[in-house]
Amino acid sequence: MALSADAFAWVSDLVRRRSGIQLPGGKEYLVESRLLPLAREAGFTEVTGFVARARSSNDEILVRRVVEALTTNETSWFRDNSPFVALKQKIVPDLLANRQRPAHLKIWSAACSTGQEPYSLAMTLTEALPPSVTFEILATDLSQEVLDRAKSGRYSQLEVNRGLPAPLMVRHFTRVGAEWEINPDLRSKVNFRQHNLLSSPPVIGKVDVILLRNVLIYFDMPTKQAILNHMSRVIADDGILMLGAAETTLGVDTRWDRVQIGPGSAYRKMSAAPSAAPPSVPSPGTGGAGVAGGRVPTQAGPKAGWVAKPAAAPRGALS
Ligand SMILES: C[S@@+](CC[C@H](N)C(=O)[O-])C[C@H]1O[C@@H](n2cnc3c(N)ncnc32)[C@H](O)[C@@H]1O
Repeated sequence: MALSADAFAWVSDLVRRRSGIQLPGGKEYLVESRLLPLAREAGFTEVTGFVARARSSNDEILVRRVVEALTTNETSWFRDNSPFVALKQKIVPDLLANRQRPAHLKIWSAACSTGQEPYSLAMTLTEALPPSVTFEILATDLSQEVLDRAKSGRYSQLEVNRGLPAPLMVRHFTRVGAEWEINPDLRSKVNFRQHNLLSSPPVIGKVDVILLRNVLIYFDMPTKQAILNHMSRVIADDGILMLGAAETTLGVDTRWDRVQIGPGSAYRKMSAAPSAAPPSVPSPGTGGAGVAGGRVPTQAGPKAGWVAKPAAAPRGALS
């Protein structure tokens, strides 16, 4: 049985409210194919009945899994390459030119998927920075499932083949059975956390570089504007925002200057640009880790004092 219009409407509304991801008419097949494994796991042979169960069950974990199943987690090592070259050759040297030594750089990979992006960052910075400069990376995503994979630091041969240069694999990974595992030293540079981009940023103080790549494309205009506004509040005055190759602040938020670096582009907050009141966007039903959690340093990571304490997830609100 094909997915009913009513079931599709409920899933589409749920996913938009919880994550900001838009699922307009025409995405029925996507919804059906992403939810079929969950439906089968729950004993259903088709998705409409499973959606009815999720809708009436009051089972927050099940509802979250429905939302997570509709995220797209496509990623690879050193994706697009030029952002990582730009970081090494231009962005980091420029930032350090203004900083006293010893210096400490704070980087946020704000939709990190299964971890290839923050670990690629960690490899880039480990290779590029002098000993007088340390760094740490906060890596966040909405999906707990991808974060669990990222935290494990284990990748299949197929995943490693997608963009990881052999010399870096040899230097930073150890073979464990059929998989490759990130070495503990590099692993310790990345602090993984669940965070919904619709919520206030999970950081205290200013971030030097924010990677917000290949995620704005899933949102409508007010949601993009609200997220860019969140970023403008936490980025350092000389900090750099990096978006995906198909993404831009142009026509979305006028308070960013485009900085052309090699073939790619990056954005810097215009000097003294004020934070705008965020446009009205769906606030996430649950799972957001925002200011409500309190600006308390966490124990995660060696110097993770700039990461706010996670908020306790609100309960209920399943409709
Ligand atoms: C296509 S991946 C991009 C991964 C990586 N940044 C890259 O460019 O390779 C998009 C990621 O955004 C996450 N995402 C979607 N909506 C989100 C939200 N509201 N808050 C946080 N992460 C979200 C998804 O779970 C997914 O892992």
